[in-house]
Amino acid sequence: MSKILFLKLLFIFLIITLASGRIVDDISFHNPQNLAGQMVKTRNSISVEKVGVNKPTPEEEKDPEFWRSVAREQVLRNLEKQKLNVNKAKNIIMFLGDGMSLSTVAAARMLKGQRKNHTGEEDSLSFEKFPHAAFSKTYCANAQVADSACTATAYLCGVKGNIVTIGVSANVEYNNCSASMDPANQVSSIAAWAQKAGKSTGFITTTTLTHASPSGTYAHVANRLYESDADVMSFGQDPATCMDMAHQLVTQEPGRNFNIMMGGGMAKFLPKNIKDFHGNNGIREDGRNLLSTWQAMHPGGVFVSNREELLNVNTSNVSHIMGIFNTKAMDYYAVSDKSQQPSLAEMTETALNLLQRNEKGYFIFIEGGHIDTAHHENKAGISLDETLEFDKAIQLARDMTDPEETLIVVTADHGHGLTINGYPGRGTSILGLNQHDLGADGLKYSTLSYALGPQQFIDEHGQRVDLDGIPRDIDSIYPSYVKSNDGHHSGEDVGVFASGPFDHLFTGVLEQNAIPHLMAYAACIGDGLTMCDDNVEE
Ligand SMILES: *[C@@H]1O[C@H](CO)[C@@H](O)[C@H](O)[C@H]1NC(C)=O
Ligand SMILES: *[C@@H]1O[C@H](CO)[C@@H](O)[C@H](O)[C@H]1NC(C)=O
Ligand SMILES: *[C@@H]1O[C@H](CO)[C@@H](O)[C@H](O)[C@H]1NC(C)=O
Ligand SMILES: *[C@@H]1O[C@H](CO)[C@@H](O)[C@H](O)[C@H]1NC(C)=O
Ligand SMILES: [Zn+2]
Repeated sequence: MSKILFLKLLFIFLIITLASGRIVDDISFHNPQNLAGQMVKTRNSISVEKVGVNKPTPEEEKDPEFWRSVAREQVLRNLEKQKLNVNKAKNIIMFLGDGMSLSTVAAARMLKGQRKNHTGEEDSLSFEKFPHAAFSKTYCANAQVADSACTATAYLCGVKGNIVTIGVSANVEYNNCSASMDPANQVSSIAAWAQKAGKSTGFITTTTLTHASPSGTYAHVANRLYESDADVMSFGQDPATCMDMAHQLVTQEPGRNFNIMMGGGMAKFLPKNIKDFHGNNGIREDGRNLLSTWQAMHPGGVFVSNREELLNVNTSNVSHIMGIFNTKAMDYYAVSDKSQQPSLAEMTETALNLLQRNEKGYFIFIEGGHIDTAHHENKAGISLDETLEFDKAIQLARDMTDPEETLIVVTADHGHGLTINGYPGRGTSILGLNQHDLGADGLKYSTLSYALGPQQFIDEHGQRVDLDGIPRDIDSIYPSYVKSNDGHHSGEDVGVFASGPFDHLFTGVLEQNAIPHLMAYAACIGDGLTMCDDNVEE
């Protein structure tokens, strides 16, 4: 039977089926032979390929007692959670995996296990072991699918705003400077609430200090790209009335008081005639050297620009650390010069050593920013590697702190269009091809793929190319359905994982903007409800 005739018959069958109102038989979607990896498929009706007969089952998992004991441990662990931790949180650490969809979390845990030569699916990221978890609805005031700017306003300032704006209410529309500079439209962040309570504060990111997510701790802008005065001008606005984010960070509350600022993006702080520590010129037009301004404001503080300088900081005799490790965003960890650029865990360790000196506690925001960047490039290997670097920083923070007094919350701002697809067998390399099925064209496909992105892997005849013949490394681009310059965010819910005082408040399906209010409740900061309201001992 020719392919065309077959398709015609299939089409007629579908029309008849749909016209008769019958649901297509279950077997066509869930063919048991196919799911078991035993389907024999033909490739262009010429050669017959038998793919993945016999999916491997780990030997110990054949014994039902294995699974009963896994479940028993879960029951016991969950019973433990009935003992609620109602201490007042002295410290809050918020970890943000930018673009870390739940599919990213699942794929990263598989990679983590596979790097240990395990099958992988059974592994866990550090924060997946936190006692409590919730879902977060990520839409913004005017956006079904959000960006990192409006979501930062939600999870740091506790209010939903419009897409592309930061630290302002939904009264402010994109690029409306006068509206964003009106204090009535500005909303304060949990970093400001923590400062009012005498806590130390700061942030770490792998992107730039003026990138959308960390800017939610300190900025009020109508456009996330107002990173320097030159950027403000490029959008037809006047920096004299519309202050850029680097300027806000160094000179305004609460940014000017931050004890920790680490990440990339040095050019935004220096005039265009001055070279930064990485050999490139600054980009500011106003002649301001915001780094020397910052140093003059903080004589007890230290400025560092590479890994060695960071690791040599004596955290017991400095009050502030500003670390800027690149002209633009920091490099992807997997391909970075590890002698020059610190890891997220190294930055976290130094920061916590300094912050924990404050007996009133601290708030710090720590972002794995390149989980998102790499997803935009459809570089799934890099994105998962960045997720594992993020995971290491969280494990370290958990090890360095006491859950009796430190609340750690891990979440994402929004998802990304990554799917884990097909029916690959147990232990199939998560970054490889599904070895247990073929597309209708008789070719294998990668288990990971994106909804939108730059590469469809389609040849000049509109046929899918054979991915088996294309070498893949950590930096490779994965296929997408719709061609676009880059992968885009997605609008499904993301996870929230909590450990420490009042971690049990992180449960159910949350509006994203509730997150800082829940943290503030536990720490008795901010103007909203707190645990101190009804607790006279405090
Ligand atoms: C995993 O297996 C490979 C190949 O056998 C080996 O080179 C590598 O050291 C192993 N890695 C671990 C973490 O055991
Ligand atoms: C900016 O927003 C204000 C309201 O806050 C409004 O009156 C003004 O017309 C807006 N400007 C522009 C250019 O849309
Ligand atoms: C911090 O300690 C180092 C090394 O002991 C010393 O060189 C430096 O002057 C000290 N700085 C301050 C601000 O005390
Ligand atoms: C760090 O600074 C403290 C306080 O100034 C000092 O006592 C200590 O010796 C310093 N440590 C090192 C390794 O220089
Ligand atoms: Zn993004």
